[in-house]
Amino acid sequence: MINKYKSIIEQKYNEYDEDARFDRMSQRFEYLTTMKYIQSYAKKGCKILEIGAATGRYSIALAKMGYNVTAVELVDKNLQILKEKSKGIENLISMQGDALDLSLLKDNQFDIVLNLGPMYHLFNQKDKDRAIAESVRVCKPNGVLMFAYLTHASIIWAYGVRKGNLSDMEYCLKKDGRIKDVPEEIFCSFYIEDFAKQFEKTDTTFLKNIATDGIAPMMRDYIDDKMSEEDYNMLLKWHFATCERIDQQGLSSHLLYICKKNG
Ligand SMILES: C[S@@+](CC[C@H](N)C(=O)[O-])C[C@H]1O[C@@H](n2cnc3c(N)ncnc32)[C@H](O)[C@@H]1O
Repeated sequence: MINKYKSIIEQKYNEYDEDARFDRMSQRFEYLTTMKYIQSYAKKGCKILEIGAATGRYSIALAKMGYNVTAVELVDKNLQILKEKSKGIENLISMQGDALDLSLLKDNQFDIVLNLGPMYHLFNQKDKDRAIAESVRVCKPNGVLMFAYLTHASIIWAYGVRKGNLSDMEYCLKKDGRIKDVPEEIFCSFYIEDFAKQFEKTDTTFLKNIATDGIAPMMRDYIDDKMSEEDYNMLLKWHFATCERIDQQGLSSHLLYICKKNG
């Protein structure tokens, strides 16, 4: 393992119930949207790699749909839950591993590579570049890669405003609104153009950028406690219709960068 921040990441996930992250109706926007786009690219029986698979919500669901899934996870606690939940699912292989060093996997193997989480916890550009390069390496030519990332707005909202930490965050705010990467603060965030720029050095072609949760996190108390099922379905429908729009991307907490490895 070469991830020098492993203990910080481990501590965060040892204290957090990752398996319950999509229990709230507002949080399910991210899951449902990501799943919709994965399914739009996944061909029958294709090989999917999930890096940072946590407790296996995507990996297990995708394996149950018939795809051949490999799940890689850094934190032992999450991996053990994944292994327990996926017992008996033969088309799912899981292993401990690091997005920075996927040397346990061969080049050009997977039709779809999902990197849904590791980019939140890479604290310098060298590591971010390395994680992207490793994801691209194991993807087949013409295969599709999806990277989840956090916007600066999501940190301001979730950790600053909602948890009442805004004034304590001043030391990591830059004048231009960017938030510095501080390992002790656990989460790294991006402007849309900064995330895209990282791919200029790779042999990939940009396909789409998706606002996976849009305005749902900011409306979470209303969505979770007050919204009728009918209104929820209507809002989700509107979200699906608008999640590729640039105006929604700026407001979203989570974004999904989708690209293709050149053939
Ligand atoms: C926010 S969770 C997301 C899990 C899942 N992919 C999802 O979207 O629901 C991030 C996961 O990535 C794992 N992770 C973080 N850094 C990693 C790395 N360098 N390599 C592999 N997994 C990593 C964490 O341990 C955690 O389980």
